[in-house]
Parts: sequence; structure tokens; C-alpha cells
Amino acid sequence: MPAISVANPKGGAGKTTLTFVLAGELARSGASVAVIDADPNAIIAGWGRKRTDQGKPLPFEIVASPKESELVKVINRYTQSHDFVLIDLEGTASRMTSRALARSHLVLIPFNLSPIDAELAANAVALIQEEAEALGRAIPFCLVRSRDNAAIETKTAKRIVAAITDAELPLLPVGLVERAAYRDIFDFSATLEELDPAQTSGLVAARRNAFEVAHAVVEAVQQEIRR
Ligand SMILES: Nc1ncnc2c1ncn2[C@@H]1O[C@H](COP(=O)(O)OP(=O)(O)OP(=O)(O)O)[C@@H](O)[C@H]1O
Ligand SMILES: [Mg+2]
Repeated sequence: MPAISVANPKGGAGKTTLTFVLAGELARSGASVAVIDADPNAIIAGWGRKRTDQGKPLPFEIVASPKESELVKVINRYTQSHDFVLIDLEGTASRMTSRALARSHLVLIPFNLSPIDAELAANAVALIQEEAEALGRAIPFCLVRSRDNAAIETKTAKRIVAAITDAELPLLPVGLVERAAYRDIFDFSATLEELDPAQTSGLVAARRNAFEVAHAVVEAVQQEIRR
């Protein structure tokens, strides 16, 4: 049912990776998932095409490059037929992004834990708040740390998290950790389950992290739906 957009006008913030990891994990847990690939790079759609060419099944449905004029209809259709609809958005503010935000039960904003990226994430929040104002109702959102350091929390990271907490902005309690596995899934046209631990380091930790992030996102979206 819920539609979850992954948005941040900052290029390379980790939107496609977060969308993909979430889709894979939710599908693995038994949910029916549709990914609307509205990223002009069409990374997830390309991944799906490669798998199909190789005769591998798709763990979730992929809607490639929807037209701006059709996006709302597509979101409405898939929220009726699937347990989760995830929308991977482009790295710029656009009408496509506005429409997706307006139809979302939750917007995830991934951002890298650097001062510059945190400031740009604040712009993403402002953009969502502007959209909400135009719409006349709140658009629920949640910041998500992207490419977290697996081993240590740096002083900079702590400062950024403290600033977000002080500003009373919602932050997902678990971040997506920087892992080779999250790159290898694209490289090998694979899911996290299919990757070989002999070829990908830190795979077990990546699977655990994917599980925890998906769990936290499900909790956050359920909370929004209950409101
Ligand atoms: N958690 C992670 N672990 C390892 N690599 C990551 C992680 N998150 C993102 N990356 C890498 O960082 C780069 C940018 O990530 P991604 O493509 O997901 O960002 P994006 O926000 O979708 O970018 P765009 O705005 O261009 O659509 C990619 O090379 C991706 O493989
Ligand atoms: Mg992307």
C-alpha cells in the first residue's frame, strides 16, 4: 500500500542505493514491491533489464522511466496492487519530484554525513516543506544517513546528528552503512542474497544493515499511516 519516495536534489546522495536496498529487503521478507524508477540514470531499470537478459527472475516489479504526466496514475495503480511502492527520484528539483512527493506516505531523504551534504539535506527538507505548503497538508519525511561509517562515529557525524536532533527533524535511527555489497549488487546484477561472500567483503554485515534499515523504514511509514 504505502508509497515511499526517496528524494534529495543533491546528486549522489544515495537515493538509488537506498531505494534498491529497501526494495530487495522488503521483497526478501515476502512483501510485494514495485519500484518506480524516475531517476534519469535508470540504474534500477538497467539492473532489471540485465537480469531479464540473463534469465534471472526479478524479486520486485520495476516501472521504468514513467512520463511526468502519468506518474500520479502509476503511483495510484501500484499502491493498490502492491504492499510497497518505492520511487527513486532524480537528483534535481522538478515537477516529477513535486508530484511524487505529493502522492507519498513518506519521503526518505538520504544524505552523506558531511557538513556540506547536511546543509544540502536541509535544502531538501525546505523543498518538501514548500511542497507541503502548496498542497495544504504535511508531507511526512525522514532523513536517512547514507554511507555511514561502519566502524566509528566521527566527531563530525555526531555534530551533524546533534544539529538534526536540535532542529527537531525526523532522522531514521539506523543509517545505510558504506558497504561494498551495496555497489556489487549493481556490478553483478544480483540481490544481496545472491552475492557470494567469497567475492564481496562485509556481506553478512551488509545484509544485517539492510534488514535493520528496512525495519526502521516500515516502522516510520506505519507510524505515518496511523496518524
Ligand atoms: N551505502 C553505500 N555503500 C557503498 N556505496 C554507496 C552507498 N550509497 C551510495 N553508494 C555509492 O555512491 C554513489 C552515489 O550513490 P547513488 O547512485 O545511490 O546516489 P543518487 O542519489 O541516486 O545519485 P543521483 O542523484 O545521480 O541519482 C554510487 O556510486 C553508489 O554505488
Ligand atoms: Mg539515483
